[in-house]
Amino acid sequence: MCGIIGISSNKPVSANIINSLKKLEYRGYDSAGIATLSNGEINEVKSEGRVDNLENNFDLKNLKGNIGIGHVRWATHGIPNSVNAHPHSSHNVSVVHNGIIENSTILKKYLINNGHIFKSQTDTEVIVHLITENLKTSELEEAITKTLKQLHGSFALGIVFKDKPDLIIGARRGSPLAVGYGPNENYLGSDSYALKSMTNKITYLDDGEFCVVKKDQVLFFNEQGIKVNKKILELSSNEASYDKGDYKHFMAKEIEEQPTTIKTGIKEYIDNFNKEINIINFPWEIEEIKSITLIGCGTAYHSCLMAKYWLEELTTLDVNIDIASEFRYRKNRFKKDNLYVFVSQSGETADTYAALDLCNKNSMKTCAVVNVIESSIARDSNFVLPIHCGPEIGVASTKAFLGQILVLYILVLKLGFLRNEISKSKYQKKIEDLKTLPVLIEKTLQHDNDIQAISSTFNDAKGSMFLGRGFSYPIALEGALKLKELSYVHAEGYPAGEMKHGPLALIEEGIPVVVLAPRDNYYKKTISNMQEVIARGAKVLLITNKSTDEVVSENIWETIEVENTNDDLLPFLLTIPLQKLAYYSALKKGYDIDKPRNLAKSVTVE
Ligand code: F6R
Repeated sequence: MCGIIGISSNKPVSANIINSLKKLEYRGYDSAGIATLSNGEINEVKSEGRVDNLENNFDLKNLKGNIGIGHVRWATHGIPNSVNAHPHSSHNVSVVHNGIIENSTILKKYLINNGHIFKSQTDTEVIVHLITENLKTSELEEAITKTLKQLHGSFALGIVFKDKPDLIIGARRGSPLAVGYGPNENYLGSDSYALKSMTNKITYLDDGEFCVVKKDQVLFFNEQGIKVNKKILELSSNEASYDKGDYKHFMAKEIEEQPTTIKTGIKEYIDNFNKEINIINFPWEIEEIKSITLIGCGTAYHSCLMAKYWLEELTTLDVNIDIASEFRYRKNRFKKDNLYVFVSQSGETADTYAALDLCNKNSMKTCAVVNVIESSIARDSNFVLPIHCGPEIGVASTKAFLGQILVLYILVLKLGFLRNEISKSKYQKKIEDLKTLPVLIEKTLQHDNDIQAISSTFNDAKGSMFLGRGFSYPIALEGALKLKELSYVHAEGYPAGEMKHGPLALIEEGIPVVVLAPRDNYYKKTISNMQEVIARGAKVLLITNKSTDEVVSENIWETIEVENTNDDLLPFLLTIPLQKLAYYSALKKGYDIDKPRNLAKSVTVE
């Protein structure tokens, strides 16, 4: 994780660096820092905590320098404090880093033996001293190439030099890095989002490349130090979507935006006139795909699990799903007729990218379901299915989850239809049903006061459980993840039928248990499991769909009824109350909803 910014300009840069750091805070918020160059000196300021702290602790308006680098940190090596905050500097070099240097212990020993004195506990500081050491014997570009070769692990770097008042070096291996072009100034940033308020002209560095950024020129080099030419992309700019508007938090806004997320997805993928799904330029013949593996992390993994249930219900394809951090190190049996689908909001998650890279190296068929279409995962996949949900800023994924499962459901329908496993009439009926989803989500969003009232019970309990079967099981996992990451309350998602094999022992008087039991094929079985927990004292919040049939069970603590739709689409609606439950629990506790502790939005370290 961590966010990097660098600006080389003909005017003071500190204000723009601060603005960009605020945008980058979704990548890490343990500490923040800036280094500028002026009058042959490196001016370094850093603080523990948020960018606001940095602003409060220093007079940044008077921080001189037309060139500078900045950083927001998500701690890996060394506790989050101002000493371990980036930039890290020697007498002549200052560095910001995103990633992990795996051989830092060995390099540190070598550098200490050569007289270098370390101030921090970070792996990053070895880079500073290594460059300083290499500059003793080599010119700048050679010293950089040499240093990069000595580093093992992943990095995106921004480097300034005391005696080079006009240039920033950027380097990328594993962690993303972009260059932006402005009037009389150029930029370096972890992503286009950090640069968007200054430019929409962007070049992404490829793995192994480095660049020299001056105010009037940018040069790119490959791993061998040979100059390369790169394309400039023009991004569409929509600053408005980065604004909270009247909402208290981005998460609240993003939850409420979900009808639009789904509407946009439907508009992009459904051809209304022909009642057809537009997945065009699919690069393989349908007969070439005999099985599917879906890979992701966290919430994106839950989307993969959701897709597995749909694929098994609606097609005869063999389906596997995997957590990216496991997949990348397992002895995988790669199969030519398997489609590998990578699901990611950011498109930069290190483990998911590594899993994709592994598949690419084995010449597999790769497809990305991503939100950020300029991301590394999108760029390096054979085929991309964008989520189209706009920027998601809140660290906890909400609208991106719904966007991911929408695109995956659409893919499932298309595959099933092309494989003659879904009849034309059924296919068109499912497309018609899908079009009603935005309105159903809007109505489900109206459950608000009831969820607010319920949320305190979850905060006061020592733990909680989320149970579901079949299509509702991935949503139970997602609901538990949302609650634990936002309100720091232990929450466990479980298949309802598994409770009796162990977890039932956790049930005691008053423990809140969310039971997802829509009236689908699993309804009766789930209700039986619900009765088992009620019998042992659980306080059950039942989430079901509207029906004329009453739920036959006593002692249910609270019930929320979502709208009615076909079984496939119920998971979309069941998700909404769970997102709100997590939001209101965290709100009542006064926690930082958009930036929960210890987390970051884009997980670019493994
Ligand atoms: C949880 C959450 C994370 C992400 C995970 C993968 O609310 O947001 O679990 O889903 O870190 O991130 P992406 O989707 O960017 O690959």
